[in-house]
Amino acid sequence: MSTVAPRRLTIRSVAERAQVSLGTVSNVLNRPEMVAPATRARVQAAMDELGFVLNTAAHQLRMGNSRSVSVVVHDVSNSFFTETIRGIEDVANDNGYVVIVSSSDAAPEREQRCLRLLEEQRVLGVLITPAEKDLKHLARLQERGTRVILLDRHGPVGGFCSVAVDDVRGGELAATHLFNQGHQKVAMVNGPIEIRQCADRRRGVRRAARRAGFDPDTAIVDVPVATLSTAGGHSAVPIILAGSPTPTGVVCANDMAAMGVLRGLREAGMRVPDDISVVGYDDIDFAAMLSPSLTSVRQPKYELGASAARLLLEEVSDATHTHREVRFEPELIVRSSTAPAQARSGALKAKSPSSNGASSPQRARVRRPVS
Ligand code: RIB
Repeated sequence: MSTVAPRRLTIRSVAERAQVSLGTVSNVLNRPEMVAPATRARVQAAMDELGFVLNTAAHQLRMGNSRSVSVVVHDVSNSFFTETIRGIEDVANDNGYVVIVSSSDAAPEREQRCLRLLEEQRVLGVLITPAEKDLKHLARLQERGTRVILLDRHGPVGGFCSVAVDDVRGGELAATHLFNQGHQKVAMVNGPIEIRQCADRRRGVRRAARRAGFDPDTAIVDVPVATLSTAGGHSAVPIILAGSPTPTGVVCANDMAAMGVLRGLREAGMRVPDDISVVGYDDIDFAAMLSPSLTSVRQPKYELGASAARLLLEEVSDATHTHREVRFEPELIVRSSTAPAQARSGALKAKSPSSNGASSPQRARVRRPVS
């Protein structure tokens, strides 16, 4: 008995079944955001009824881009990135794309390995928190046809679309809060300043010291850690406590490090905030649940991610697109981990406001959660 080979299913089969043009089926597959929802649903129903599955490998080679959006961040176990990626996912999925996530560990070599693999996959674009200040490798990736959106930091004007908060202002809000509470010696637990966010937050902390009438070189104790993680924060505590006099306030460049600092201070018998105040950065979900709850500089994490994804889709669908920066303002959320400094002997005396016109401590953009 001769067996008739099943008719090979093609996008023509789908077009006939859904009674639409080949172009419409192609748009549903490649630019779903260009197709009216009802038409998209009709084509999808025809694919389901026929059991049509696109051969993405061959299709990608023909069409030059896939249905996947890639994200390269420092560390997916950092809740800042987890919450940011959720914003990316929701926008991508609503427009018919899936998301591929990689961690670079803020290591340039690992980042470049991820980028090579993603370029081979012909992803639609890369949303990236770069591992280093130099972005030349990303400009070359972009020139070869892979779209690049900077996430959590900005780049050279006009070079890339980017989404970030003003991290200099964020560092200033954190430190101003402590200086306004009478702290005169503040430790800053910070990641490598090759990471633009770390450098900018440090600039803000030092600007706050000057505006409070202090010399940043004496009022701020830099405590560099290898990674902005709980382990990194925990490793900073012996260095903080070795200071003479011991700082009465700590600014951490992110909440993960702040959680490590809180643990290390507790193990050292230090009371927060009675003996020492701690400020974090990102305001991740855990910040409000800690005991004491963490004062932190809030970043709009979900919106950062959603905005980055929307910028990528705009680049894909709008031939006249020009790169632009989306800037958000940080916001200080005051909780229980900070309190006014206890009067201490030997504390630094604030100089009179410096002759360079530094104004009095900026009124921080402060919000106190309803208890
Ligand atoms: O991207 C560097 C840091 O900035 C991350 O650790 C994250 O917390 C963000 O705040």
